[in-house]
Amino acid sequence: MKGSLFSFATVSSIICEGRPQAVIIPMEPIRSFVTLIHRVVVRRICRLYPSGKMAGPVCVLLLSLLPQGCARPTVHEPVTLTLLDQEWTTKTFSEARQQELQQFTRETGIHVKLLASPESPREQLAFWRELLGTSASGPDVYGLDVIWPGMLAESFIDLKPYFANEMSAEFPAVAASYTVDNKLVALPYDANIGLLYFRTDLLRRYGYRVPPQTWDELERMAARIQAGERAKGKKEFWGFVWQGAAVEGLTCDALEWQASEGGGRIIEEDKTISVNNPQAIRAWQRAARWVGSISPPSVVGYKEWDAVNVWVAGDAAFMRSWPMAYVDSQATDSPIRNKFDITLLPAGKAGRVGTLGGVGLAVSRFSAHTNEALELVRYLCSRKVQLERSRVLSEPPTFPELYELAGLREPNPRYAVLAQAFRTAVISRPSSVTGKNYQDVTDAYMQAVHSVLTGEKRALEAAATLEKELVRITGFKTGPPSAGMSGTTVKERSGPVH
Ligand code: GLC
Repeated sequence: MKGSLFSFATVSSIICEGRPQAVIIPMEPIRSFVTLIHRVVVRRICRLYPSGKMAGPVCVLLLSLLPQGCARPTVHEPVTLTLLDQEWTTKTFSEARQQELQQFTRETGIHVKLLASPESPREQLAFWRELLGTSASGPDVYGLDVIWPGMLAESFIDLKPYFANEMSAEFPAVAASYTVDNKLVALPYDANIGLLYFRTDLLRRYGYRVPPQTWDELERMAARIQAGERAKGKKEFWGFVWQGAAVEGLTCDALEWQASEGGGRIIEEDKTISVNNPQAIRAWQRAARWVGSISPPSVVGYKEWDAVNVWVAGDAAFMRSWPMAYVDSQATDSPIRNKFDITLLPAGKAGRVGTLGGVGLAVSRFSAHTNEALELVRYLCSRKVQLERSRVLSEPPTFPELYELAGLREPNPRYAVLAQAFRTAVISRPSSVTGKNYQDVTDAYMQAVHSVLTGEKRALEAAATLEKELVRITGFKTGPPSAGMSGTTVKERSGPVH
């Protein structure tokens, strides 16, 4: 039995398989045994999340998996797969997902049980690891954040033999992030990139023809619009909202600030720890000045949804977010419907960049239904489903060719910007190069940046300490950032505000 969690599937299969079909077994002792296992599993999992915040959802999820060990389908019964995904769980996203799964069942006869997941990538990863550590046969298909393949590769089958055609048609940066030592760990399901959302009505009101091209411009515009709106009585209005809590979202944002200034990728592709450099330090210092001036003091506690909520309420001029925030911003009851647009994040000295995000789907090597699981992955990642998802949810497809379709651009006119951004402006977090150590690396990085944002540490000191910490974690050497950031910059101009 692997992992720290009690292997409930193994135990329940002992109960089920060890029982000859014709023999009548008194069920009460078995039921008590199963109840006991329930308790042990729940206690173990709850101990993993001492804050209590995660305990509820995680325990419920595990309990929902538990009966599977005893509910093995006979050859005549339809297969039911379990899918553990890490997508946003708003009503719109959940409904769209359910429809995709129902259509899959209609087309294939395979049923899918969708499992809920915790909200933040760190909690999700801990949970995925625990489940995989049990070697239990479910979930069959896992959603993997683009930064996880290096950490979880050995728990999933190699998808390369099954999806060679698909992979040759994906955006190269996206395809690369799911490949570890030539093994395709997950098939890209959606692609994400950090973007700037801006209020077109306010830009017009304050005389700006185009959104900010540089971080300097963004600061000036945000400050002026904020002052103007407050003077009109909107006391809670802010210039710029973003993700400042010490979670993965901050790693994404801060990487954009520093990389656009030539401050590198924290750890370069050639394994050089480059984070302790003047450009990165200046970029962090600049962001620290935003806190309490153009951004709310509480931004240092903001995760994705906190920023989206302020933005959709109409209380910010600019927001850094992912493409998927488009759908809530443009909802029929949104106060900012038709009053905003999206573009690339502003340029620093090195150009404009957005952090690559997204999800890929992977098949567990413990799955008892590998073929059906592969079918599900093929279906959910197909061009057809990606197109529909881009229409309903504004989730960018992972196949460049889809961006050429007129039907795709109509619901979200900024797909043209995205298509270009995925080719030329995307920057990856150092997850491939650090492999299993990525979580420690990103934890150390986000803590360092957060301590600068909160004023707890000076940027110079935080960068020097972080450098030492990263050497300890990875054993890599230190050095300057690579020139040109691997060709990931773009100096593209946004169109006029309309
Ligand atoms: C988005 C991205 C993901 C990233 C996360 C950070 O979900 O797709 O890659 O890790 O945001 O919060």
